[in-house]
Amino acid sequence: MNIRQATVEDASDLQKINDEYFGETRNYKKEIESKDTLIFLCEDKNKIVGISGLKKYVWNNTAWILNIFILPEMRRKGIAKQLILHIVEEAKKMQVRCILAEAPSSGNAPFLFTACKFRKCGYNDRYYTNDGGEIAEFYSFDL
Ligand SMILES: CC(C)(COP(=O)(O)OP(=O)(O)OC[C@H]1O[C@@H](n2cnc3c(N)ncnc32)[C@H](O)[C@@H]1OP(=O)(O)O)[C@@H](O)C(=O)NCCC(=O)NCCS
Repeated sequence: MNIRQATVEDASDLQKINDEYFGETRNYKKEIESKDTLIFLCEDKNKIVGISGLKKYVWNNTAWILNIFILPEMRRKGIAKQLILHIVEEAKKMQVRCILAEAPSSGNAPFLFTACKFRKCGYNDRYYTNDGGEIAEFYSFDL
């Protein structure tokens, strides 16, 4: 398993994964080129199996973890945990005071952030567009 920062050459592969699994309006090329954002990917045998990222906010000196995603057939192998630990090291280099992350309460991400020693620091039952059916949980890791 190799974890590295994405380059513009990765943008179309990342966009394909996004379109197939996420369907979010995310422009990977733009994000990779942005000076505030780092996109990271996990590769197994030269195939992208996981994606996440880190976006720095100057006003409160924090970095937010961008959507973390592991291909369904590669889950429960510790890949996301490795990626988060890598991201924590990268955030230390940014010299932010705190890492923040958001996770839908009914998914697997709360287990992941708890396993990575993040602290649940809040929730918002109006964050998503589903009238409170899905609750956003927020996690933090102080540096
Ligand atoms: C959340 C997600 C990234 C986890 O990826 P993963 O590679 O399967 O996670 P890992 O194998 O690294 O597991 C990390 C920890 O979380 C726990 N965990 C992960 N999935 C779990 C589940 N379904 N049930 C219970 N615990 C779970 C593991 O036990 C592990 O802890 P441990 O190492 O202390 O035992 C993956 O399920 C995913 O891509 N989900 C869809 C996208 C998503 O929901 N993203 C989060 C919103 S931003």
